[in-house]
Amino acid sequence: MPRSAKLALVLLLLVAVHAAAQAPVRVVVNADLGTTTISRHIYGQFGEDLGRLIYDGFWTKTDSGPWHLRDDVIESLRRIRVPNLRWPGGCFSEYYHWRDGIGPVRDRRPMAVVIRGGVVEDNSFGTHEYLELVQRLGADAFIVGNVGGGAVEEMTEWWQYLTAPAGPLADERARNGHPAPFTVPFWGVGNENWGCGGDMSAQTYAAVYRRYAEFLRTSGNTRAFRIAAGGNGTGEEAEALDWMETMMREAGPAMDGLDLHYYTVVGPWAHKGSATDFGEREWFTAMQRTERMDTLIARSSTIMDRYDPQKRVWLIIGEWGMWHDPEPGTNPRFYQQQNTMRDAVVAGLHLNIFNSHADRVRMANLAQAVNVLQSVILTHGDTMIVTPTYWVFDLYKVHQDATLLPLDIKSDAYTFDGQSVPAVSASASKDRDGRIHISLVNLDPNRGRTVRVEIRGQQVSSVSGRILTAATMQAHNTFDQPDAVQLVDFREGRLSRGILTLDLPSKSVVVVELR
Ligand code: AHR
Repeated sequence: MPRSAKLALVLLLLVAVHAAAQAPVRVVVNADLGTTTISRHIYGQFGEDLGRLIYDGFWTKTDSGPWHLRDDVIESLRRIRVPNLRWPGGCFSEYYHWRDGIGPVRDRRPMAVVIRGGVVEDNSFGTHEYLELVQRLGADAFIVGNVGGGAVEEMTEWWQYLTAPAGPLADERARNGHPAPFTVPFWGVGNENWGCGGDMSAQTYAAVYRRYAEFLRTSGNTRAFRIAAGGNGTGEEAEALDWMETMMREAGPAMDGLDLHYYTVVGPWAHKGSATDFGEREWFTAMQRTERMDTLIARSSTIMDRYDPQKRVWLIIGEWGMWHDPEPGTNPRFYQQQNTMRDAVVAGLHLNIFNSHADRVRMANLAQAVNVLQSVILTHGDTMIVTPTYWVFDLYKVHQDATLLPLDIKSDAYTFDGQSVPAVSASASKDRDGRIHISLVNLDPNRGRTVRVEIRGQQVSSVSGRILTAATMQAHNTFDQPDAVQLVDFREGRLSRGILTLDLPSKSVVVVELR
């Protein structure tokens, strides 16, 4: 080949490579084909009695005053429409004895919380306080009973105490200030019973679960919605899936939900890495490990479909989020950590994954709501700030109970050190008023993406949106700079003849509304 022809070929190749790199991400949204509702419970929170979550986070007192619920925290959580709050744990639930937390506060029995290094829980926050909290949040109660360290009788009596319309336990409840039965829509039968909940094999837990579930009888008009502990998604995938399979096979008909846990951990368990001091390698790893959630759900769903093709049993992701090393200077057993733009992008990615599996995933709980792990709120004395993750929940609340819209996405890759993940993630829904919402996440911390969205099956004429982004991967809010990362209007969307073109900046989470 003559030299000039070779040159021309190289030039052509370079142009093609450049064009491919710049080619827009392509999304097709079928606005008239949605059949599945995105359960609002996917946007749930986890409120374990751990570290500074309940005490300081929700429940506080001045030196001279009585204990009380924090109005500021409740108000902020109402804004993001928290649909349910899982309590009292977590591992704590497997140590918790509900009778210690009812009756006059002065008479309550304190306990040393063994799994938290013996820290003393005075039990001033108990059953009635929790139910007042969820009522003020406008959320549903999700109580996890003690299996590993408790007894069938204890759990059964708690259930009866809460829900019985009449009888000795209802009388006791009335004496403690609540004559009417409480509403408790969700009931967990243990937590992580492969680990802190009794270190059981799947076979053993399945038998134990059935025994406990049998005694959670319909009380008055309340049928217990019984949730079994699912596998350890953070560990070996094969073991987690084996646990899911055993539970479905041995106890499927006795359960309404199966609660799988998965944490995004960047380093090895003993050195997870700093929440704020990290580089692109740790950013990329977080994205890659979050993508695992998609596979884990898909594989769990396949197993569940075999035993439950009608999809009656909810797949619940009762604990998810980033788990970093604790903040320097804090009690390491309190799991207190900062929250950056990386956590926000991971949250957006998770929520898109949950939405896209809405036919099986009907509930999920971020670990955890306040001051613990990937929290949406941090408190210090009587002040509080919201984290970048909070703003993602604020953006995505439009998906709650909306109809999932089938969406097809072709994204180029975000590549780091020879490994890749799709650069852009998206999910879409239509609300009761016909408004379409599309949530998009650009995982790439270095480069923006142009996204071309074709809307099929519905005429749209206006676009608006909001965006969360920041100049650096490590950007976060502090008590000195509480608004360093916050939502702003997104004006980079153009609509023309049913085609929406969006310019997503690097490391951003965007939700657009189309009418
Ligand atoms: O969220 C912190 C802990 O992580 C929970 O107590 C436990 O369920 C999980 O292992």
